[in-house]
Amino acid sequence: MTSRTFVMAKPDAVERGLVGEIVSRLERKGLTLVAAELRSVSQELAQEHYAEHADKPFYDELVAFLTRSPVFAMVVEGPGDDTWELCRILIGKTKVTDAQPGSIRGDFATTTNENLVHGSDGTESAAREIKLWFGDRA
Ligand code: CMP
Repeated sequence: MTSRTFVMAKPDAVERGLVGEIVSRLERKGLTLVAAELRSVSQELAQEHYAEHADKPFYDELVAFLTRSPVFAMVVEGPGDDTWELCRILIGKTKVTDAQPGSIRGDFATTTNENLVHGSDGTESAAREIKLWFGDRA
């Protein structure tokens, strides 16, 4: 049983030239890209993507960050039903001081705000985010 999730190299990752490193880590794990694109993010898309954080103090900063420069959006597939979880392990913890060395954030991120990568946090959010970002194209 295969499953898919949404992963995004955020503006800081693209600006720092880390897209190849991020894709490589996903691929070396044994996961496959089934759709990907470098794209600018509108205010509306950023707000919709982070809708669950709308009442958080860091929301406006988060939307401004995501719209700052292009992101590399991906649909990632793996052989089991836990692809979203595998990706989250590769990505590392959200809080920068919790992100372990060996994870993408643990190896490359120095702040919680600009933490390089987003990965869906469950099966339902994966479906929602794949539809939001890729529509019928994935
Ligand atoms: P992400 O996994 O994309 O999901 C929500 C994002 O909010 C998170 O990564 C961080 O980039 C950002 N963020 C900024 N500040 C915080 C915070 N204090 N707690 C959680 N997320 C934060």
